[in-house]
Amino acid sequence: MCGIVGYIGELDAKEILLKGLEKLEYRGYDSAGIAVANEDGVHVYKEKGRIANLREAVNADTKAKTGIGHTRWATHGVPSKKNAHPHQSTTERFTLVHNGVIENYEQLIREHLQGVELKSDTDTEVIVQIVESFVNNGYTVQDAFRQTLKLLKGSYAIALLDNETPETIFVAKNKSPLLVGLGEGFNVVASDAMAMLQVTDQFVELMDKEMVVVNRHQVTIMDLDGIIVERAPYTAELDASDIEKGTYPHFMLKEIDEQPVVLRRIIQEYQNDQGDLIIDSNIADAVGTADRIYIVACGTSYHAGLVGKHFIEKWAQVPVEVHVASEFSYNMPLLSKNPLFIFISQSGETADSRAVLVQVKRLGHRALTITNVPGSTLSREADYTLLLHAGPEIAVASTKAYTAQIAVLAILASVTAEQNGAMASTNLIKELGIVANAMEELCDKKEEFEQIAKEYLSTTRNCFFIGRTIDYYVGLEGALKLKEISYIQAEGFAGGELKHGTIALIENGTPVIALATQEHVNLSIRGNVKEVAARGANPCIISSAGLNHEGDRFVLPAVDSDLTPLVSVIPLQLISYYAALHRGCDVDKPRNLAKSVTVE
Ligand code: M6R
Repeated sequence: MCGIVGYIGELDAKEILLKGLEKLEYRGYDSAGIAVANEDGVHVYKEKGRIANLREAVNADTKAKTGIGHTRWATHGVPSKKNAHPHQSTTERFTLVHNGVIENYEQLIREHLQGVELKSDTDTEVIVQIVESFVNNGYTVQDAFRQTLKLLKGSYAIALLDNETPETIFVAKNKSPLLVGLGEGFNVVASDAMAMLQVTDQFVELMDKEMVVVNRHQVTIMDLDGIIVERAPYTAELDASDIEKGTYPHFMLKEIDEQPVVLRRIIQEYQNDQGDLIIDSNIADAVGTADRIYIVACGTSYHAGLVGKHFIEKWAQVPVEVHVASEFSYNMPLLSKNPLFIFISQSGETADSRAVLVQVKRLGHRALTITNVPGSTLSREADYTLLLHAGPEIAVASTKAYTAQIAVLAILASVTAEQNGAMASTNLIKELGIVANAMEELCDKKEEFEQIAKEYLSTTRNCFFIGRTIDYYVGLEGALKLKEISYIQAEGFAGGELKHGTIALIENGTPVIALATQEHVNLSIRGNVKEVAARGANPCIISSAGLNHEGDRFVLPAVDSDLTPLVSVIPLQLISYYAALHRGCDVDKPRNLAKSVTVE
């Protein structure tokens, strides 16, 4: 969701910015722009739609060594050239890009910008206009920027250019991600390291309410009182090939295929030399001694949390509640006396989850973040972190992060169970190894899932996913996958709940994809399938080997019954992928969506 890049050095800034923005495309956006500064002033180019449109609009003859760029995901004002960033102050001396939401922008307009004619509908333009008004009142640019930041309520990552000092980029951050990258004779700014891996792997993290003055040879970090902050850089451990599609047509397909490798990597990462699963003992203690665990997450991560609840309650015997972060923030349940909060977030930057974490820390409770991104905001601000080791996930539709989250939750539950002397699962390492092989087997059967997508989903306007117990949770994830990339209206339902209302939606030919991987509910889910079939539905049963009945559409390889979500989700991911592909949808960058949702 919104991406920022900046470059100051010796090379052609516009090319580095455009390439950087292309690497941020995965975050989701609807317009893009760059501003480059040279001795003739600042040149702004922006366009609605894809970066390819922006590339065409940029004058190839503009030579500049400093610049900032932005991909916008609309919040205030429709996607349009007018609302695309960069935004400029009235005199066009200042040019700014912003990621986040300025909650008090209307108040700021009333109190600071009377008489100023705003050119866009955005909250962002207010920032650049206020900087200019402070400068008009005699402030240095640095002080004007700092004073402006002090007025802002909400979230921001900002890069600002002053056309009178094109050798400097001013940067600031609060709640939205932003990094400064270091190079020999150049420095860069980026929402995430992937955008600037093309030029450096050395990055400095910025903390909330810090601002930075970035020159070619120097990076000066300070707090909003101007006190200088020293911080060592770190090396971004990303492999450039991780963020390329290689021979795959889409990142989503590549990431689905990576799942067995990721699972084997997780088994390695959480295993000691003796071949036992390990988790930092503080974390296992925190889980084992909590009187209740609150899992907080959004979207796919929330669905993984539901499966995690099953493991933690069954194996570690600790009660678990799973909550959608955006609701929890404003509707906190009565908490137990000694809770532990587990935040699950692929990106580690999701604003809804972060809002809960801030409240939880304020209340003095302990928090564990399970994330794919080391150093992400949710990781930094929690007491403990467990990493997913899934490698960068670029497609907006989360796939390998989901299975990685489930695997890490299984390991966490199992190690805690062992530590507590509670009932652990049997030989989890061996069982996860069997799952990895089963995942591979499924990934090798793509044509079968493509065929199912053709048969059931090529013309339908809706689709239901049903299951019971953990199959229901996977059904929720299957429905989310299908709707977000194919735009088919899809709902996941507990098989027994359909008859309480939703069955009214079943018409002749409505596809109902049913999961049957749990022995104790195998007959009851099949009963539910009969109910919808009797009303004209077109059922597609995906069952586990050993529980299959004649007529099932696909039989999954047998794995430990608690771990079936790790395999049953793969057909659903692939069916969604092919349904979207056949409908001509942009699989990796579905409309209206952002990969990293950094606004509440
Ligand atoms: O980065 P997070 O895991 O916190 O993101 C949460 C959701 O925004 C995310 O899972 C979203 O639902 C995915 N697009 C689903 O594929």
